[in-house]
Amino acid sequence: MKIDVGFDYLGEKNLPNFNRYKRKIASIDKMIKERTGLGNDYLGWLDYPLSISTSLLDDIVSTANVFRSKYDTLVVCGIGGSYLGSKASIDALRGLKTTDPMEIVYLGNSLDPNYVHEMLAYLKTRNFSVCVISKSGTTTETSVSFRLLKDLLKEQYGDKYRERIVAVTDETSGALRKEVNNEGYKAYVLPGDIGGRYSVMTPVGLFPLAAAGIDIKAFMKGMNEARIDCDNSDITTNKCYQYALVRYYLHTRKKYKVEMFNVYEPRLTAVSEWFKQLFDESEGKDGKALLLTSCTFTTDLHSLGQFIQEGSKILFETILYVKNPDNDIVIKEDPENLDGLNYLTGKSLSFINQKAYIGTLKAHYENGNVPNITLTLDKMDAENLGYLYYFLMKACAMSAYLLNVNPFNQPGVEVYKKNMFHLLGKEGY
Ligand code: PA5
Repeated sequence: MKIDVGFDYLGEKNLPNFNRYKRKIASIDKMIKERTGLGNDYLGWLDYPLSISTSLLDDIVSTANVFRSKYDTLVVCGIGGSYLGSKASIDALRGLKTTDPMEIVYLGNSLDPNYVHEMLAYLKTRNFSVCVISKSGTTTETSVSFRLLKDLLKEQYGDKYRERIVAVTDETSGALRKEVNNEGYKAYVLPGDIGGRYSVMTPVGLFPLAAAGIDIKAFMKGMNEARIDCDNSDITTNKCYQYALVRYYLHTRKKYKVEMFNVYEPRLTAVSEWFKQLFDESEGKDGKALLLTSCTFTTDLHSLGQFIQEGSKILFETILYVKNPDNDIVIKEDPENLDGLNYLTGKSLSFINQKAYIGTLKAHYENGNVPNITLTLDKMDAENLGYLYYFLMKACAMSAYLLNVNPFNQPGVEVYKKNMFHLLGKEGY
């Protein structure tokens, strides 16, 4: 296992007896494998890391390399599962202030005129390209932004604008597929049996990652390793299922309402956003489920940290901690020592951050009575990130099935869309 799952700060009373759940977990595992559970036609992601072809990966890398050589900016146009995975990965793997020559920006995830206006104005100063991603091909935020992007592309680059577009959509259906067929854009398929929030392993995630210069083969290798490690029906040894069961137990038996997912690096904040979407959109139905929310520490220890420590006892925490950062900085001695920091001379920021992590774990668990689960990665790289995603997707499927909800639909999301279409006067609403 590339992820070390720790229950040392959970408390004995919060740890279920895994042996008692052996049969239940094994029967859900069988249901997942045999594709007989709720939403079973959306389990294409289970084996996708194994079945994805080398020729598809090569094609994505070579198209992305052409884009990297010709353009300085890629706009990823999509919302929800159609952009969160790529944003999370690119932030996590390249950092927030990258020196990579290909800038990746995001549109289609908001209807805010200020944001869209600012982005379009900025793009006028860039030599930009677009990756539009929509499975349905009809999502308003994405479609509106894509139309605006096409207008700008035509204005800036005339008839050759099509060369700057890559689309990822369903193989046969939806407005975007129709447009791809009419206009001849370069396009990749999001398989029909994989939903948005499970699609980071498909061209949805892979094209933006490759355009960002990330090794997508290593990313898929990590996914596939997790697929193998998590393919184990035994709760006493399967860490992925243990994580799913512990959160289920804390929710249903110990009555916790919230799982707070915390990271110790700002570059991982978008991973938390991806994770929130995965669990909240998958499980939050039928009046059930934990609310998954997040913090970035130590920043948020100076705001929500107070609530976690002493506020109402509604939450437990899951911490993602990466042991070895890509970069480190050592504190130097200052002869004047006016700031009183010389006791840290020779210490690195990673050492200090790690002490903050341990100190916080102890404070929240020992003094605040807040159960903590720890997920530790040795380092953040493409392979480990791929592993982490698959691990969490499989845990999410198990967790949702423990609650007896369909992990793969999102009927609630449709309600706002229908209201909005009605208010906007769309035909049929
Ligand atoms: O996870 C999901 O299914 C959703 O978040 C979708 O990804 C999101 O609504 C975007 O849908 P589409 O790709 O159809 O534009």
